[in-house]
This record gives sequence, structure tokens and C-alpha cells, in this order.
Amino acid sequence: MSEWQKSNWRAKPRVQMPDYTDPDALSQVEAQLSKYPPLVFAGEARRLKRHLGAAGRGEAFLLQGGDCAESFEQFSADGIRDTFKVMLQMAMVLTYGAKVPVIKVGRMAGQFAKPRSAPTEVVNGVELPSYRGDIINELAFTPEARIPDPRKMLQAYTQAAATLNLLRAFSTGGFADMSRVHSWTLGFTNDQDVQKYSEIADRIQDTIDFMGAAGITADTTHEFSTVEFYTSHEGLLLEYEEALTRLDSTSGNWLAGSGHMIWIGDRTRQPDGAHVEYCRGVLNPIGLKCGPTTTAEDLKVLMAKLNPDNEEGKLTLIARFGAGKAGEHLPRLIQAVREEGAKVTWVCDPMHGNTIKSASGYKTRPFDLVLREVRDFFAVHQAEGTIPGGVHFEMTGQDVTECTGGVRAVTDEDLSDRYHTACDPRLNASQSLELAFLVAEELSKLRNTQRRRAAV
Ligand code: PEP
Ligand code: CO
Repeated sequence: MSEWQKSNWRAKPRVQMPDYTDPDALSQVEAQLSKYPPLVFAGEARRLKRHLGAAGRGEAFLLQGGDCAESFEQFSADGIRDTFKVMLQMAMVLTYGAKVPVIKVGRMAGQFAKPRSAPTEVVNGVELPSYRGDIINELAFTPEARIPDPRKMLQAYTQAAATLNLLRAFSTGGFADMSRVHSWTLGFTNDQDVQKYSEIADRIQDTIDFMGAAGITADTTHEFSTVEFYTSHEGLLLEYEEALTRLDSTSGNWLAGSGHMIWIGDRTRQPDGAHVEYCRGVLNPIGLKCGPTTTAEDLKVLMAKLNPDNEEGKLTLIARFGAGKAGEHLPRLIQAVREEGAKVTWVCDPMHGNTIKSASGYKTRPFDLVLREVRDFFAVHQAEGTIPGGVHFEMTGQDVTECTGGVRAVTDEDLSDRYHTACDPRLNASQSLELAFLVAEELSKLRNTQRRRAAV
């Protein structure tokens, strides 16, 4: 393959990207962004890659989560804090189930551009270009709002930088103290309707108390009070990605400076397309969404392109088939991985294959289907003898009503109460934490089976 350059994607067929109408404005924005500091550093991306490699071997577990689409309008410190907080709570519960470190990766600080299933949207007989995320155009249903404006990339960069700054402060500034994080979880399980999770929560509290008695506290132990938190987004808007690409002087490799991990979506994974071309050249860990239409042949080509050195942690395959469909699709993709001897980390996105239209007209996702897909994913890996390396959720720390179900049931009728997403429906804080408890149960079952097998 010829030498990779950050702009080579421009010669490849592109899909799901805007046609900017003002080329001068676009060049100005690109020139400006090219001068800005990167948001992340190469050493951090390499460290995340090592952690993801461990997840591929079953020695760590990935929790990736956040908004479907970050929004300019809903941007707030409280919003970032609440999502960060619930992710830490989930990570503790998952650590308890998996007994391995949980890698925390937000769909945050860059998750602005959205692929859409249709290029236009029709409302009351009026047809307009689709909304493609706040980094591209606006959600309002007017012709002006839907014109792609390159200047929005500058606002996205600013918001991403501010978000990351707050996340870094929360990660090390005392907010992440384990006993504090778990006391929030105990507040959740104290409620009558979630009593069934209190046993695990109590056991975690016992462990914290035991460690405290042994002298391991936030005051004595760095790991008790700080976390590593990484950022990720779909690398969709390639002008933005290219402008933030930087040479890593220590290794001579290229870094996507826009976030620690970037992924390729289900609609943009054409092996000869622009998105794969860009992603194959950067040193960051790369995610690849795998859906029902992913063929074994394509997957083989994609693995060779995206991870030519077969490096552990470089490539995360994010399965998103829909509840009841993993059994039909996952085994053939696992087989393709096996045939190639490829090193990958398997992760389950139980959101994107389970979007339905509710009776009230809202796009929603039933909690039970989300859970069912996670369980399918675990079952297939158990049958194949491969490793479920993590989960990928669309979620928020806010008390929204976008997905139905959960113990504090959100019904179809409730959806209109607090439906705030700019794109796909997210699990709310309570649904997210509940799911973490249920996934933790799956992880402990898996661990017990493995232990029994090892003992035979
Ligand atoms: C997403 O993660 O928001 C998304 C659009 O997913 P997919 O590409 O898997 O449909
Ligand atoms: Co989405």
C-alpha cells in the first residue's frame, strides 16, 4: 500500500458527508483548526490501545457510553458531570462482576456528526435535507438551518476542548473517589423497586469497607480516588478529522487528535471508501461497527487494512445486530476473525439494532431488547470460546424518557415527558445503572464457568 497521508481520503468515494456550499469558508476553518492544539496526545491513545488489547484477552472490560449526538444547545457542566458520574457507578458495578479493570470511554468531546438513513426528511409534505449533527447543520426544520456550515466545526472543537477539560478535572480532582461513587449507587438501590440489586451493592460496600480497614483509602491510594477516562466518537466528518491530525514526534506516526478512539459507522465502512482510508493511517485504537450486512469477506479486508500489523487493542469490533440476531451473524464473523488469526476486541452495541417507533410516534428502544442483545452476545461468545470484551451504550446521566422499560418503567405514554435527544434515544441514569447490574451478573456467571473449566 502506498504511503498514507491524512488527505488521501479525498480521492476515495465518500458517503454521509455534507456538501459544503462555500469552499472558501471551509478552507478557512480547516486552516484554523490545523493550527489548534490536538485534544488528546499520542501516549494516551497508545495507553488506551494497550487497555483494549487486555479487554480482547479477557483481562479488562470496556464500558463505552454517552450521547448518540452531543448537542450545542444542551451543552452544560451538569450534563457532563451526570454522564461521567453514572459511568463511574456502572464501571464499579461491572468491575465487581468481571473482576477485571473496566476501561471507561465516553462517547463525548467530539461525538457531533451523524450518519442518517435518509438524505432528506419530509414533514407535512415539506422536504428538507436531513439533520446531520450540530457540527454540520441544525436540527430546526427550516431550509436555512439545514445548510451545512463549516464554521460549526470551530464551535464543536471549542465544546470538545471544554468537555475534555472538565472530564480531566473530574478524573483526578477527587470527584471519582470510589467510596463516594458507590454511595450514589447505594442511594439508587435503597429504593424499594430496585431492591433486587442491593445484594451486589452491599457486597461492593463490604469490599470498600474491608479495603478501608486495611488502610486502602482515597487518602492513601491513588487508584482509589482517580480514574482514567477516555473519549471517542465516530470519525465521520473527515475534514474535521484531517485538520486535527498530528504527527507524533516520538514514533513518527500520525495521531487523530480529535479523541482517543474513533470508530467507523455501519454506513461508512466500505473497504475502499474515504472513512476506512482515513482511519487506517492513524495510530489511535479504531472501532468498527459490524451489523447484519457485514460480510465475512469485507471483514477480512477491513481487518487487514485497519490493523495490518495485527496489533492487540488496535481494532475493536462493535457488534450491533439487534436482539435475537447475534446468533445468526456473530458466529460467521467470529469464524472470519479466526481464519485470519486476527487480534480483535469484541464489544456489544445493543442500541442500534433495536430502535423502533413507539405507538406515540417517538423513536425508542425497549430496555428488554437492549438487555436481550447483550445476553445473546455473551451466549455466542461463550459457545464459540471467544471473549466478550465490552459494551457500548447510548446513555445519559439525565433523567430523560427516551428508552422504554427498566424497573422504574418508562412507558410509551411517558416518552413525550422528557424526550431531549437530538438523535437516537438514550438510556437514562436509572436504566443505565440497572443494565450495568444485569451485565455484571452475566460477567460473574461467565467468570464462574471459566473458573470451573480451568479447574477440570
Ligand atoms: C451510532 O453509534 O450513533 C451509530 C450511528 O451507529 P451505527 O453506525 O452502528 O448505526
Ligand atoms: Co446513535
